[in-house]
Amino acid sequence: MAHISSSVYTSHIPAIGAALDLGKTHEAYWQRVFQGYEFSKQWMKEHKPDVIFLVFNDHATAFSLDMIPTFAIGTAAEFKPADEGWGPRPVPKVIGHPELASHIAQSVIQQDFDLTIVNKMDVDHGLTVPLSLLCGQPQAWPCPVIPFAVNVVQYPVPSGQRCFNLGQAIRRAVESFDEDLNVQIWGTGGMSHQLQGPRAGLINKEFDSAFLDQLIADPAALAQKPHIDYVREAGSEGIELVMWLIARGAMADVAGGKPPRMAHRFYHVPASNTAVGHLILENT
Ligand code: DHB
Ligand code: FE
Repeated sequence: MAHISSSVYTSHIPAIGAALDLGKTHEAYWQRVFQGYEFSKQWMKEHKPDVIFLVFNDHATAFSLDMIPTFAIGTAAEFKPADEGWGPRPVPKVIGHPELASHIAQSVIQQDFDLTIVNKMDVDHGLTVPLSLLCGQPQAWPCPVIPFAVNVVQYPVPSGQRCFNLGQAIRRAVESFDEDLNVQIWGTGGMSHQLQGPRAGLINKEFDSAFLDQLIADPAALAQKPHIDYVREAGSEGIELVMWLIARGAMADVAGGKPPRMAHRFYHVPASNTAVGHLILENT
């Protein structure tokens, strides 16, 4: 059967993609960000999964006010890097895993979560920047990726509790797939940031640090944090952090297994307008 071996959490700041694509990684400003991912790139090589289930948010790129799915699973065979206004990023196309994605859709919908099934979607920085941070600049991504888009852009957004419960349903779905696959689940976005209005530029290190502590040690309690607390304390775009609870909910301890091992933790301010957070948790 398939299983979830570990979860990876990271910010997805678009300027990180630009720094990589434009060859600016050696600059002192960016060195401070990328050094936090040196361990992770090596770890990815040593823990190469068969599939990555990548929870991210679309930034009005594939979706718009025309159509706003709360949870959308990518079941296509491939997904192109999106043109976000200055041409697509020069990164490999994403190869999907239609069989596992369709199985997860079937299982999770039957567990009473309404998913939108997406057979055509270009993927924006929310998905490609985390892949770049963990995998570097390869000719092809190391394995198939199932994109799972969450609406955290247009209100109403899903609660942390719903995301945490959904993660548990995704774990059950993966574990009922009849092929021996090593699956990683990634939660992306955040950490604290606000890009607009009078509070633009807001960063809250205390909130971020407490969020990381609680995500590791007591995610069930963290899941009860109301969405408005994210917006007040972590900024309007800090709400992206609820997506981390989907990945955390899929870990073994939530289903009565052993606590995960923390392989890596990194936090840095600033990158662009955002606090960068990154965590790797392994099932033991
Ligand atoms: C920035 C961060 C984001 O998460 C995003 O989606 C867009 C921009 C920023 O830091 O500028
Ligand atoms: Fe974002």
